[in-house]
Amino acid sequence: MRIIRTIPELRAAVSDARNDGASVGLVPTMGAFHEGHLSLMRRAREDNGLVVVSLFVNPTQFGANEDLGSYPRDEARDAAMAQAEGVDVLFAPDAAEIYPEGFATSIHVSGLTEVLDGASRGAHHFDGVATVVTKLFGIVRPDVAYFGQKDAQQVLVVRRLVRDLNLDVRIEACPIVREADGLAMSSRNVYLDAAARARATALNRALDAASALADAGERDAAVLIDAASRVLDEAGIRPDYLELRDNDDLHAVTRLDGEALLAVAACVGAARLIDNHILRSTDLKGGA
Ligand code: PAF
Repeated sequence: MRIIRTIPELRAAVSDARNDGASVGLVPTMGAFHEGHLSLMRRAREDNGLVVVSLFVNPTQFGANEDLGSYPRDEARDAAMAQAEGVDVLFAPDAAEIYPEGFATSIHVSGLTEVLDGASRGAHHFDGVATVVTKLFGIVRPDVAYFGQKDAQQVLVVRRLVRDLNLDVRIEACPIVREADGLAMSSRNVYLDAAARARATALNRALDAASALADAGERDAAVLIDAASRVLDEAGIRPDYLELRDNDDLHAVTRLDGEALLAVAACVGAARLIDNHILRSTDLKGGA
């Protein structure tokens, strides 16, 4: 595996692989790898001749009061893990390579970014994500890019910018990878002390409670959200948001009709965590 830090070197490596007929898969990351990241790398490895993993803690998607300074960083560990998954290139640029002096462009995806994490973290968050992802697509020019479904809103934002800007890349959303007790894997789980780690399981249990009700035929969003909310209450967790939204344009859903995204974010101990389930109405499951 090569570790590449500059855009010209990365472009040359991709171009050599393309000339040999390889398809190119990109896994954009901010490092601090866990099984969720590794599952994306495995999927990219299965599908492509060249696998590029980007490792860049993107400053523009963090707010002033967020954890940019303390975000877990261990490039040597990450590189060893990526190499073990058969990754060909780890693209680990520094901030000046991505945002040189005078950088003045920002990508804003309207409509999808004002709610959920956009409302809770601020507009800068998805502008930062959209801008860096667009840049990574321009630098690597992948055939396919792999994202985790845990960041469901991010997946929708990226799909929309790809569609709107006619970018020639396929977006693959890969399933959430969970710990044995259901906690969604996240680089931020390292912030949890033992007590917070135990309480954090309430997020998935809350989503499970709503999913079980939906499976039993409940369609009223307020009832579904209330079931999830009670589980969070019992764990002493006050969510930033717990909302049922359309899984395409993110409009608020009052009745489950087809498929919808139940998304939650909450601070648990020192970590701000997000999680989600896709709820499906029973008619969509053929009455099962
Ligand atoms: O999901 C992440 O790790 C980041 O938001 C991404 C897509 C790598 C952009 O910085």
